[in-house]
Amino acid sequence: MGTDSGRKRLLVLGAGPAQLGLLEAAQRRGLFTLVVDRDPGAPGFALAERRAIISTEDERGIERLAAAERIDGVIAPGIDWPVGIAARVAAKVGVPHPLPPAVAAFAVSKARQRERFAAAAVPQPAWRLVSEPGPDLELPCVVKAPDRQGQRGLSVVRDHRELGAAIEEAVAVSRGGAALVEELVEGAEVTVNAFSVDGRFRALTVTDRITADPPAFGVALAHVWPTDAAGDAVEVARHAVDALEIRDGPTYTQVRGGKVMEVAARLGGGHDAELCEAALGVDLNGLALAAALAEEIPPFEPEPRTGGACTAFLVPPPGELLGLEGVEEARHAVGVAAVRIYRRLGFRFGELRSGSDRAGAVLAVGESRDDAYERARSAAALIRFQTDAALV
Ligand SMILES: Nc1ncnc2c1ncn2[C@@H]1O[C@H](COP(=O)(O)OP(=O)(O)OP(=O)(O)O)[C@@H](O)[C@H]1O
Ligand SMILES: [Mg+2]
Repeated sequence: MGTDSGRKRLLVLGAGPAQLGLLEAAQRRGLFTLVVDRDPGAPGFALAERRAIISTEDERGIERLAAAERIDGVIAPGIDWPVGIAARVAAKVGVPHPLPPAVAAFAVSKARQRERFAAAAVPQPAWRLVSEPGPDLELPCVVKAPDRQGQRGLSVVRDHRELGAAIEEAVAVSRGGAALVEELVEGAEVTVNAFSVDGRFRALTVTDRITADPPAFGVALAHVWPTDAAGDAVEVARHAVDALEIRDGPTYTQVRGGKVMEVAARLGGGHDAELCEAALGVDLNGLALAAALAEEIPPFEPEPRTGGACTAFLVPPPGELLGLEGVEEARHAVGVAAVRIYRRLGFRFGELRSGSDRAGAVLAVGESRDDAYERARSAAALIRFQTDAALV
């Protein structure tokens, strides 16, 4: 093993906002982290022991690095496609990994998930895989690229005149040249954060996923715990995770109106592990690290630590970021456990269309769900992004 200095060596795919919590946990544990990201300014690089400017989707580059660096494990927290890369690279360089490559391959394709769910009778929206608009597609529908995340190519279509453009866009951004067209499921949406050990699925935080309206359809604005709308979401998530044969490690399942939107075989990308720790005292980042290093999973017992917890995302005005105020005030506001700012001065924000247009997040705890939500939102409101567009 590559433990010449006595420290385990973990390859982490991604140094963006979605990886910060795990990187901090790795640092606390004293792991030697090798971190890849194509963006030299990625905030997680500050926490890396060794950094490499390689895209998280550059499978060959990652494999070469993994072989040269004699790693003990590899992990892709918060991002989908690299989950498959991590599993294949681990298999190639001969390190243990919680997901076999074939299982990871299911997990990173929304279309293959839909097929598996159909075979296992997991509740899900009606769906079709298409390459062009057909006359028999029912509206309203949701159109998406089957192998992307972060709302790329995702839209809701209510008018036949918009269907062609929506499908064209999803096909264009997809890897496989197809679009997934789904029934629009109405109703409340929750996220089931869970961790599996030897095939035993254990639900942790179940959070409301509060999303934006079109044109930012599907973008999460807040995660709030505990939810009042869980229904049978935990059982549905368990069923979905079983259908994908995920036996070990973290999962993140989106359930809307009782139907599975999708499963991710990884930690959530919206600081979900940090919310889990604040809400239930379970160190989900630590569990994910242990799984990635094939260590024995320490026992964990979810036990409420607080009445409510909420992650509220920051939505900036568009334009170049010239100034930032109120961050310290927000950090000291009642109930606030953490504030993250994703971008530096000079960054150019667009209008809110996808998750990557968000500018940061506030995690707050409170006496109840509503109290935590209110505290997170009022702390978020203290943070002011000044952009050139806001000045004119
Ligand atoms: N068929 C559907 N019916 C209703 N809402 C949907 C449907 N598909 C997607 N959505 C909404 O859009 C959100 C994102 O969908 P999905 O997870 O498929 O896209 P994504 O690009 O992977 O986004 P993310 O990276 O946030 O998970 C869902 O959480 C849900 O709010
Ligand atoms: Mg998704």
